[in-house]
Amino acid sequence: MANSPSNSLTVLIPRPVPDTAIARLTAAGLVVKVRWRPQPFSTRRLREIIGHYDAVLSQVADPLDAATLEAAAPRCRVIAACAVGYDNIDLDAARRLGIVITNTPDVLTEAVADLTWALILSAARRTGESERVLRGGGWRGWHMLDFLGTDVFGKTLGLVGAGRIGAAVARRATGFKMPVIYWARSDKPEMNALGARRVELNDLLAGSDFISLQLSLNDDTRGLIDAAAISRMKKGAYFINAARGALVDEAALIEALRTGHLAGAGLDVYRTEPNFNRALLDLPNVVLLPHIGSATVETRNRMAALAADNIIAVLHGRPALTPIG
Ligand code: DGY
Repeated sequence: MANSPSNSLTVLIPRPVPDTAIARLTAAGLVVKVRWRPQPFSTRRLREIIGHYDAVLSQVADPLDAATLEAAAPRCRVIAACAVGYDNIDLDAARRLGIVITNTPDVLTEAVADLTWALILSAARRTGESERVLRGGGWRGWHMLDFLGTDVFGKTLGLVGAGRIGAAVARRATGFKMPVIYWARSDKPEMNALGARRVELNDLLAGSDFISLQLSLNDDTRGLIDAAAISRMKKGAYFINAARGALVDEAALIEALRTGHLAGAGLDVYRTEPNFNRALLDLPNVVLLPHIGSATVETRNRMAALAADNIIAVLHGRPALTPIG
């Protein structure tokens, strides 16, 4: 990454992004430095270089802790996360240092809701497991007793959290004629309009056939679904998580899947990514996806464009479009 003229505003893109972001930033007169490697920077390397840029277009795994943000200041004025979740960024430090942090809400809502439903249906109908049998040459033909899953239609869906993505998941559930219950701090008019009912967390855990996490990761929610919460889930329930892995005690989840307390799970996220708990691989009743919630061409283009527009706005002296906090 070569040096740029000292008076030009320079944006660091630490990992590849859709061209749309680069085109927008360049058209706005900004100098863009893209690192075309898929792996995130090491924390050490990022701290060494981040202070040479006026803005960063970051992604989910970029480690933006307090020390890294201190290294970014005073030059860096905005970090635009190309994600709705921002648990990798120390917001208090950013505030203290005057660095604007933005994310990409709304543009990925429907894609993540679709993927959540893919997990619900795959877990219930054992699609991963049965595909593995077919690909492995083990299919013995149609058999009345093979690959039996469970009905989704008419079952109770419990949504832990009820923000934009939760509402989009609930909207899809109406087509499956599912009673929807949700846990949130306050009543959500959009959920209530769909016929969903707000309940206490313990009632949701005990009363749902499918439990899906729809909340962001922060100090209040980290580890919310612990061993005690999992033990309250209905025997034979399915657990779905396309939000964040650290919301869950993964060891307790694995144990509940092993013993059959839970019938299955669909996971898109893990406590540590990409080095997830390999014990999950031994569980046939779990659908495992590599954090692809927002991974459609259209959605990733929209996320990249919004992140770029946030950088342009701040560096050109305007308010960010979607600031956090
Ligand atoms: C997000 O935006 O937070 C998603 O997890 C990325 O796919």
